[in-house]
Amino acid sequence: MAQTFETIMKYPAADEKLAGKALEAAAGIAREDLARFTDCFPSSNSINGFYEATENVEWTTGFWTGVLWLAYEYTKDNIFREAAQIQVESFYERIKNKIDVNHHDMGFLFSLSCVASYKLTGNGRAREAALMAAENLAGRYREKGSFLQAWGNVGEASEYRLIIDCLLNLPILYWASETTGEARYAKMAENHIRTAMKCILREDDSTYHTYFIDRETGNPAYGVTHQGNRNNSAWARGQAWGIYGIALSFHYLKDESYIRLFERVTDFFLRHLPEDLIPYWDFDFDTGSTEPRDSSAAAIAVCGMLEMSKYLDKERAEKYTEAAKRILYALIEKCGNRDIAQSDGLLLHGTYARGSEENTCKNRGVDECNTWGDYFYMEALTRVVSDWKMYW
Ligand code: GLY
Repeated sequence: MAQTFETIMKYPAADEKLAGKALEAAAGIAREDLARFTDCFPSSNSINGFYEATENVEWTTGFWTGVLWLAYEYTKDNIFREAAQIQVESFYERIKNKIDVNHHDMGFLFSLSCVASYKLTGNGRAREAALMAAENLAGRYREKGSFLQAWGNVGEASEYRLIIDCLLNLPILYWASETTGEARYAKMAENHIRTAMKCILREDDSTYHTYFIDRETGNPAYGVTHQGNRNNSAWARGQAWGIYGIALSFHYLKDESYIRLFERVTDFFLRHLPEDLIPYWDFDFDTGSTEPRDSSAAAIAVCGMLEMSKYLDKERAEKYTEAAKRILYALIEKCGNRDIAQSDGLLLHGTYARGSEENTCKNRGVDECNTWGDYFYMEALTRVVSDWKMYW
């Protein structure tokens, strides 16, 4: 079915009371999880509902620290603050010793852990760690093509590409410029989003997951998927990274041309939502499919719509706020975990990766919780109950 704004408006919306109850439940589960995950981290996705413990590696550990900061802000309980600060030390060591940081995910890792710590508590080590992370990311900027290379060794021919997820890594560069007064970080971020939107947005307003750049000329070459169903399909989480990523760059740059980009990417997402408003992992699938959902895509999109609504005219702000609150209602009712005996995650029914004929993924975290789903769910709830100041 094709959703329209009118059909979406017929669904119930999450209000402050419902979001508050869901936030209470989420903070309660996070409190129980603390005993296991203070000196180590939950792994990227749950297995049969429960997270295994991991060292501070991969791109996903910052989400759990972000959950702790959100829980601290909501409860004012120092137990969360102290655990988060212990983890900030781990991030300091990680970037200082360059442990698993040869990739672009510095924003996911360091905005939600260290920038959050600095903004909320003034922690100087957190600021230092976040600035080292920004510098590390800046090292991935390629003049030839004007973009941040996502994966692999910088300059490597087989990895000369950008990916849509990187839009969420740009805020740490904007923040670094604001904090240090050095314009170069923000300039790289601004150039990257310009290049990215030129490449990845298709005529029908869906998006490519990844896009190769010609290493000799710097011109956009071709798009392929990594985690989507097909090279030409719309991976649901990728589309959601687009929504929130554009909103975050708008927050820093106030470039009016992003408003139209935001509308195009977001309206595609909304039009293709299935009957229960929880997207399948790729928009190739619609109501009635037996393919798994990706609740995390919905949570990310909700945060993006709520952020962007702050800058839109009244009519458009209302449209996206109301759509976001309806998706959030569906998430609370269908995916919000209230029972630690069932799972130690906060948001059920996510999909990390699903193998298909055209992608190179193996199934991973299918119909499971994942740490970013938990984080963005909690951020979305926080946005509905308070005038939240972003960590991004
Ligand atoms: N940024 C990686 C992912 O969304 O799976």
